Amino acid sequence: MTAAATKRIFVCNNKRVTPTSCGLRLDASGAADQLTELLAERADTGTEYQVIKSKCLGRCQLGPVLGVFPDNAWYTYEDREDLGEIVSEHLENGRPVERLAIRRNTRSAA
Ligand code: FES
Repeated sequence: MTAAATKRIFVCNNKRVTPTSCGLRLDASGAADQLTELLAERADTGTEYQVIKSKCLGRCQLGPVLGVFPDNAWYTYEDREDLGEIVSEHLENGRPVERLAIRRNTRSAA
């Protein structure tokens, strides 16, 4: 029997008092909860998902941000619709969502 693959989705929940802190720009905590809900609604594909409310992911000015690992895929999002597209396209079908993607090496500290 083969162990299920696991993907971890880190959702920045940092709430620093700056205009570029993800957690203050949108309800990032709510986004993590919404992702968990959306993933629970999907059919079982043999992949397990772990949604993690993280601290700063170093891409503050591009936020709110989340990262999918081990894919090393980074996304920004505005609402539940964007989160749903990340779930249906990237996580279910393995297709990157280009309109929401953040380049891997992009950092906010410029
Ligand atoms: S505050 Fe979210 S990446 Fe830094």
